[in-house]
Amino acid sequence: MKIEDFVQRIRFKSIQPGNPVELPVFEETTNYKIPNLHNVKLEISNTTLPERDGHLKQILYELCLIPRMSTFAIGSIINQAVYLMQKEHAYVNVGVWHGFTLLSGMVNNSNKICIGIDNFSEFYAPQAQFLTRFNQYKSSCHFFYELGYEEYFKKIHQGLIGVYMYDGSHSYENQLRGLQLAEPFFSNNCLIIVDDANWAEPRQATFDFINNSSYEYQIVLDKQTASTMNPTFWNGLIILQREG
Ligand SMILES: C[S@@+](CC[C@H](N)C(=O)[O-])C[C@H]1O[C@@H](n2cnc3c(N)ncnc32)[C@H](O)[C@@H]1O
Repeated sequence: MKIEDFVQRIRFKSIQPGNPVELPVFEETTNYKIPNLHNVKLEISNTTLPERDGHLKQILYELCLIPRMSTFAIGSIINQAVYLMQKEHAYVNVGVWHGFTLLSGMVNNSNKICIGIDNFSEFYAPQAQFLTRFNQYKSSCHFFYELGYEEYFKKIHQGLIGVYMYDGSHSYENQLRGLQLAEPFFSNNCLIIVDDANWAEPRQATFDFINNSSYEYQIVLDKQTASTMNPTFWNGLIILQREG
């Protein structure tokens, strides 16, 4: 199944993107240290994947227990996209925080190039916790750069990107720049994941990016959610695919 079909065929059982349900997966009072197991299990069992459902539930469960600003469904899309990605292409994730979206691409994909970038400028800067986890999961194809994304794309990146997730600051300027600086490296059919797409600024920046680009992009998914910590597509999700 192609990745665009996988994305479009994800279903949810009882809690839907349009339900105004906040399902925190961490106890905020403990500075995000203790996972809320009940909510994590509910979130995973609420999600039905069109392929590799049992397998992805098994390999991503442990990652769902780390602090994250994302969902099992989004982690599954990332893992499946990297699994299907050509070996010479790379998955690039700007904004790793505790690691969920980067490690979701890395797990069981040891032969695929996965690159994380974060300058740890936000949300308690958990670089020590991230690095411990990254070192535990990484293969020789997995890399991390503690840098701002602008410097990374201007000075370091080489090679084609097959899957891209920009999850750094979602101000209009940063979201647009995070897409535009990466675009010269996008492969044909590159999959681009934009989360927090309920908010006006990343949404507008994404559509302005498409409209001002010389390439064509297909909108594979554009789902807004009725809450920010929604256990389906979090705070809204847009997925694009470059066409040729
Ligand atoms: C919302 S968090 C990422 C959440 C993460 N993707 C997850 O799976 O839970 C945003 C991250 O972007 C990082 N960030 C913010 N501005 C950045 C920049 N200019 N360059 C690189 N990383 C940045 C922050 O340090 C923070 O860790």
